[in-house]
Amino acid sequence: MSYDPLQSQHQHQVYQNEDPAYTQSTGYITPARPVKPKGTSKWIKIGIPLAVLVIAAAVVGGILGTRKNSSSSSSSTAAASSAAASSASAKLAAGVFATATNSEYMIPVYPSTTNTALYTTPTFNSAAAGWPSDTFAPATPSVLSVRPDRPRLIAPAYKWAALPALVASDPYLSSWNASIFNNASQYDALPAVVYFMDGDSGILDVARQVKQRVKAFGYVYRMTNNTHWVDRTWEELQNAAGNGTSSGSSTWSAAPADDRWNSAHFLDTAELSAAYGIAYDWFYDIWTDDQRESIRWTLIQYGLGPGVQAYTNSSVFTGWWANNIEGNWNCVCNNGLTMGSLAILGDDTTGYASQLLGLTVDNAKANCALAVSNDGTWQETNDYWYFGSTGHAEMAASLISATGSDYGLLTVNPNFYKTGLFHMYASGATTLFQWGDNGPNKYTATANSLLLYASAYNQPQFALFQRDQYDAADPWSMFWYNPQVSGAFWDGLPLDQAFDNSTDQWMSMRSSWTDQNALFVAIKAGTLQGHQTHNDLDVGDFVLDALGTRWAGELGDGDYLSPYYFSNDTQGSARWMYYRKMTEGQNTLLVNSANQDVTAKPTMKYGTSNTTQGSSTVFTPDSDSTAYFVTDMTSAYFDATSVKRGIRLLNGRKQVLLQDEITASASFMWRMHTNATVKTSGTSATLTIGDKTMDVSILNASGGATFTTSAATRLNTDVTPPAPDQENPGVTVLIISLPAGTYNLQVLFSPQWNDGTSAVTPPSIALDDWNLTSHNSS
Ligand SMILES: *[C@@H]1O[C@H](CO)[C@@H](O)[C@H](O)[C@H]1NC(C)=O
Ligand SMILES: *[C@@H]1O[C@H](CO)[C@@H](O)[C@H](O)[C@H]1NC(C)=O
Ligand SMILES: *[C@@H]1O[C@H](CO)[C@@H](O)[C@H](O)[C@H]1NC(C)=O
Ligand SMILES: *[C@@H]1O[C@H](CO)[C@@H](O)[C@H](O)[C@H]1NC(C)=O
Ligand SMILES: *[C@@H]1O[C@H](CO)[C@@H](O)[C@H](O)[C@H]1NC(C)=O
Ligand SMILES: *[C@@H]1O[C@H](CO)[C@@H](O)[C@H](O)[C@H]1NC(C)=O
Ligand SMILES: *[C@@H]1O[C@H](CO)[C@@H](O)[C@H](O)[C@H]1NC(C)=O
Ligand SMILES: *[C@@H]1O[C@H](CO)[C@@H](O)[C@H](O)[C@H]1NC(C)=O
Ligand SMILES: *[C@@H]1O[C@H](CO)[C@@H](O)[C@H](O)[C@H]1NC(C)=O
Ligand SMILES: *[C@@H]1O[C@H](CO)[C@@H](O)[C@H](O)[C@H]1NC(C)=O
Ligand SMILES: *[C@@H]1O[C@H](CO)[C@@H](O)[C@H](O)[C@H]1NC(C)=O
Repeated sequence: MSYDPLQSQHQHQVYQNEDPAYTQSTGYITPARPVKPKGTSKWIKIGIPLAVLVIAAAVVGGILGTRKNSSSSSSSTAAASSAAASSASAKLAAGVFATATNSEYMIPVYPSTTNTALYTTPTFNSAAAGWPSDTFAPATPSVLSVRPDRPRLIAPAYKWAALPALVASDPYLSSWNASIFNNASQYDALPAVVYFMDGDSGILDVARQVKQRVKAFGYVYRMTNNTHWVDRTWEELQNAAGNGTSSGSSTWSAAPADDRWNSAHFLDTAELSAAYGIAYDWFYDIWTDDQRESIRWTLIQYGLGPGVQAYTNSSVFTGWWANNIEGNWNCVCNNGLTMGSLAILGDDTTGYASQLLGLTVDNAKANCALAVSNDGTWQETNDYWYFGSTGHAEMAASLISATGSDYGLLTVNPNFYKTGLFHMYASGATTLFQWGDNGPNKYTATANSLLLYASAYNQPQFALFQRDQYDAADPWSMFWYNPQVSGAFWDGLPLDQAFDNSTDQWMSMRSSWTDQNALFVAIKAGTLQGHQTHNDLDVGDFVLDALGTRWAGELGDGDYLSPYYFSNDTQGSARWMYYRKMTEGQNTLLVNSANQDVTAKPTMKYGTSNTTQGSSTVFTPDSDSTAYFVTDMTSAYFDATSVKRGIRLLNGRKQVLLQDEITASASFMWRMHTNATVKTSGTSATLTIGDKTMDVSILNASGGATFTTSAATRLNTDVTPPAPDQENPGVTVLIISLPAGTYNLQVLFSPQWNDGTSAVTPPSIALDDWNLTSHNSS
């Protein structure tokens, strides 16, 4: 069986408006995705447990703390300032937690300690040093009425004036400041960003690098007044305009002179518009009139002009993202046009800036803001949350700083704030629950929207969570972070959370928020359509962390340039021929070697003991602390009359039971992908990663169930996809194969904790009868 990609080419045109990945000029193009900067490996390769940690940043607080203590002793007259000073010095003394260097997302390493003074309920402490209030507070804000002073975008002058003192008194601002200076020096030593057209991904990566540099250079310039950074920024701007002279054949003059910012892939245009807007605004006072005019000309020619066309000209397709697309494209594109427009409003003689501001805000409210479903989940997967939420946060922050209002962008979706919890709960003990398309992490899209959302939605735990993450050092963080935040995000935070919107039914369960060896299980059901074609056929898919490593994991995204990868999410889509996207490539049941039904409407139920972690980072749940998730996923299968899957934590969250009740009219397989070395023996399997071990056993083998393994490659009965699959090096599939019939298949996962924990064997309870106490004792 082979697939002819040309066979149905003509049909794609019909669906272009429904298909986020379509362009007329190039056919299928690549939606935004994170791409790690080439050549910078941020983690040690698969299979290394989190054992060796580098403690890098913990000293910052100690040094500054000493200094602060001596100066604060003179201010003991007023009780409030003394309380503020002692909370400031406690904060400085605690410093910044180190991050692990060898886990994929470089998770924070929380010290094993009890600090009841510091690790308290998340709060904003108004007695502590914080930002002054903005004197620009128009009674009737208008998108066309900007603040009188510069900068307008994100970081107004009053914040720059307050920043040095806050940096000196806050260990996070201090460490981020140092990192941004360091990053700016690193970029400074490089040639101007080299133009690179990455096939269908356009020039997105290089556009984001330009933006990243402008932010860092602008930050250092405004903190030092050193005009070196003005000249260096000008070099980047000229280069990205196609006017660069420095680096020969690879400058942006290689791009078409009438469309240098690649409006066919509008994300590129938008990110460069944002970069130019920041540059125009943050350096406004020091640019010459000629420089300002050049920046405006280029921004209008290659950014805002194409933006007006995208919005108003029905004979171009470049604005498809404005047409009912609830996802990251809408957020990023509207944001770039908004930042660029706000920057030049008042100086713009074309009228484009005001025209666009009359369009982008309403459009983002109707689309971008709805990418979050009512339980907080970003419907395009966890990876796209980074891009979408960054665009959303930049746009809201720019509107507020420039004009005094977000016009409802933050609140039009009353559940948007929950997306902070979505990200926190999707973050496992080692890495994300990376269902669907998911690439390696990178620096140009961060989770720092959480810092803005913490203040905007009065959710201090978002800031407390994000400030210790590896990607927190970012110029935006310097202005979004409220240094009055205090406490510990984990204090009082439930260990479990269920997300029950039908689009992405999923649940997160763990044994601790602060122990990198914690048990973490996450599982999903949800519909297989409605994700901007970024999902997999993965109802029932789960991941499992324990002992500092991931035991059941995801394969991530395929090659975005593979033909038909983004064609559509119908049953016949070639997307589902790629191993990483098909049901076979997921940690779920595969019936009759066939993909799941894309019209599946699974249901879910769940239970949680509502266990919360307390103040201490050292936390052991009670023995009856538990959580479970059960889905009826019958509708996902063509050759089964009943399929239910349940997963639960056992033995005080030390073990995991996965139970499948299935009546299949064809043979089927239970499949799980792991980086472990696997040894099977009948109903047992022993998984090892480094020096860690996980025992897996089939509890009820009377139906003849035994374990086998295979490589993570397509079955030889599968149709051949239009392009070869990516390899999955080091990955083994643990399999149970059974003939048609009715089964109650129970698989018990027992991590070898080696801490005196004795394993339990749970009773056999039908999924319909699961409750919080059903497995308490056998
Ligand atoms: C920010 O970091 C730079 C480089 O480490 C340092 O020179 C500067 O003093 C810092 N700024 C503040 C306000 O501490
Ligand atoms: C920025 O600096 C941090 C800390 O100094 C470093 O870990 C990171 O790799 C740098 N990022 C880039 C993009 O250079
Ligand atoms: C930079 O210049 C501005 C405006 O003149 C001034 O307010 C600020 O203090 C200067 N900053 C430094 C670090 O010299
Ligand atoms: C780039 O060159 C064009 C054509 O000469 C000019 O109109 C524009 O202002 C220049 N832009 C920049 C940023 O140098
Ligand atoms: C609309 O786009 C078409 C195709 O690019 C172009 O020829 C036409 O001039 C545009 N119309 C307007 C009013 O800008
Ligand atoms: C899921 O969330 C969307 C908002 O994004 C809402 O319109 C819909 O009603 C929700 N569905 C369910 C079943 O809660
Ligand atoms: C293998 O390890 C990598 C890196 O930690 C992780 O991203 C991936 O999901 C793991 N794969 C599996 C199948 O567990
Ligand atoms: C979906 O895409 C496939 C190619 O992957 C194509 O054959 C099919 O016709 C498309 N279906 C629709 C409804 O567009
Ligand atoms: C957990 O909290 C939810 C929501 O408040 C509540 O409905 C449920 O009864 C609680 N369960 C237990 C076991 O306390
Ligand atoms: C497990 O037990 C049930 C009865 O409780 C039986 O029907 C089934 O065949 C057994 N084996 C498997 C693999 O489900
Ligand atoms: C929980 O399940 C067990 C076992 O099925 C049952 O005996 C018990 O009555 C159930 N408890 C509740 C509160 O439903």
